[in-house]
Amino acid sequence: MGQESTLGELTRIGVIGLGTMGAGIAEVLARAGIDVVGVERDEAGLARGRGHLEHSTHRAVERGKLTPAEREELLGRISSGVDLTAVADCPLIIEAIHERLDAKQELIARLDEICPAGTIIASNTSSLSVTELAAGTHRPSRVLGTHWFNPAPVMELVEVVGTVVTDPVVLDEVRDLVGRVGKIAVRAGDRAGFIANALLFGYLNNAVRMLEAHYATREDIDAAMRFGCGHPMGPLALLDLIGLDSAYEILDSMYHQSRDHLHAPAPLLKQLVTAGMLGRKTGRGFYTYAEADSPHVVDDAAPSVVAGVEPRPVRSVGVVGTGTMACGIVEVLARSGFDVVFRARSDDKVSAVRKRLVESLERGVQRGRLSAEERDAALARVTGTTDLDALAGCDLVVEAVVEELSVKRALFAALDEVMKPGAVLATTTSSLPVIECATATTRPRDVVGMHWFNPAPAMRLIEVVPTVLTAPDVTATVLAVSRAAGKHPVVCADRAGFIVNALLFPYLNDAVRMLEAHYASVDDIDTAMTVGCGHPMGPFALADVVGLDVTLAIQRTLYLEFREPGYAPAPLLEHLVKAGYLGRKTGRGFRDHSR
Ligand SMILES: NC(=O)c1ccc[n+]([C@@H]2O[C@H](COP(=O)([O-])OP(=O)(O)OC[C@H]3O[C@@H](n4cnc5c(N)ncnc54)[C@H](O)[C@@H]3O)[C@@H](O)[C@H]2O)c1
Repeated sequence: MGQESTLGELTRIGVIGLGTMGAGIAEVLARAGIDVVGVERDEAGLARGRGHLEHSTHRAVERGKLTPAEREELLGRISSGVDLTAVADCPLIIEAIHERLDAKQELIARLDEICPAGTIIASNTSSLSVTELAAGTHRPSRVLGTHWFNPAPVMELVEVVGTVVTDPVVLDEVRDLVGRVGKIAVRAGDRAGFIANALLFGYLNNAVRMLEAHYATREDIDAAMRFGCGHPMGPLALLDLIGLDSAYEILDSMYHQSRDHLHAPAPLLKQLVTAGMLGRKTGRGFYTYAEADSPHVVDDAAPSVVAGVEPRPVRSVGVVGTGTMACGIVEVLARSGFDVVFRARSDDKVSAVRKRLVESLERGVQRGRLSAEERDAALARVTGTTDLDALAGCDLVVEAVVEELSVKRALFAALDEVMKPGAVLATTTSSLPVIECATATTRPRDVVGMHWFNPAPAMRLIEVVPTVLTAPDVTATVLAVSRAAGKHPVVCADRAGFIVNALLFPYLNDAVRMLEAHYASVDDIDTAMTVGCGHPMGPFALADVVGLDVTLAIQRTLYLEFREPGYAPAPLLEHLVKAGYLGRKTGRGFRDHSR
């Protein structure tokens, strides 16, 4: 049974450990008008903690977020010392000491002794079991996790972690408190990584494995996720910021709980940690920084795979297809000054593409993105045809027809017949092997993948995919055309999912598994990823936009390619697709969009 509310009149909170997180939490609480009793283990820790607070509030004043008087008042609300009994009269105590189970257990046992039975004890642990911390006390129902994000004064998310014995009233009260101090709370169960880290670190580990396999460069992996998914940072740069030692610990805890080898820290992580390359804090991790704690990357990038290779000249481009991607690609190329010939299967389709193109360019003019002259010039560069032979003189042809291997192979065989020697043949496939298109021709050296993102005019990323047979100057040509079209091309090997889909879809699938296990709600998971990780959309909002059928098809392809048990599509995803809940396009997916 739940106990009486104790936090209603809450005006004093104890914070143990005034390190990076503890000082940040103390600042947030004091700013909301709460008196904070801070405790450190010794005078040196106390001086450091005060230093954190002085520095952070000083910066807030400099940025105009706090007046000098408010700063004084805020600092005045935080008392601090080295005597733990000072927190005995606080109804809630948050511990933020270093991440060691024995140290936290010892601290909580002492708090359990000196505090009245009603006091709530919260741990800020990122990876230890809250259940284990609670079990050693006389008040397991009043022990919970509050997982704040770094830097606490800036990051809005707090995961409120309940164990099987936590009193629901305690969880509600703490959740209310989080809201009162201006943060957003999500409820999570006691599993390694809670919500945000559990989803994030599987994805980060996957990115390290990609790098380890020399599948793509660190710059290209990071650029792919920034430009392809709108993430604020790429996974490897983010790992450098988090600290590779902490990342290793979190993954290790996740692995010990899940036994899923996708959570087993990638060997490269261990090597970097052992070498003392812990990320930004030591000046070296996946990237090299100007100095320890510097955000500035020193340029020590490996030379490009096509360094010194001359691209083939491209003036005219053929585009095959009439769908969303083909239309977008025609528009982008024509606006970038290329002569474009697109091929449709009927005159009606030629007219339809032209109509879409005119409308899209017109919208661009109305929104001030291009002038009327630029619109007219772009239109004048585009010719439509139903005759594949009309593409014969093009320097590059981009295939964007239906995602079916037999159709694509037949088309590549036909292009092989008509295209002039030396023409580059590119496919926009997002899930089929590029090599299958290449071997349908007698010139596999001229065939390459060119994976655009939807909508092509808006998305900056292009994944350029050479096969084992592609000639280097063919890769160089597609890279040069992508750049001339204002895009950010990245190069990766011919494996299912390329970079973006191979990192994104297993993460979406993990989110579905989390939901399926009733671990957290759709809204809480989406909030954790948008508010906690700065993603533009949470996994369920994204899956509803992409389409659950498309999500399932891509996840199946990844599973079949890699045979990773962890990649098997979540049964819930299969059931929703069977039920016709395909996302926004059918009015219902993970959420109901019909109302
Ligand atoms: N750093 C992050 O990004 C982050 C994010 C979320 C949660 N966390 C978690 O927050 C906790 C603190 O992490 P941090 O990064 O602030 O560590 P930190 O090393 O910066 O701070 C820990 C502080 O606790 C003090 N301390 C140690 N033992 C103590 C004791 N017995 N009594 C009083 N003070 C004691 C230390 O002197 C130090 O100042 C950890 O559990 C960590 O996993 C960290």
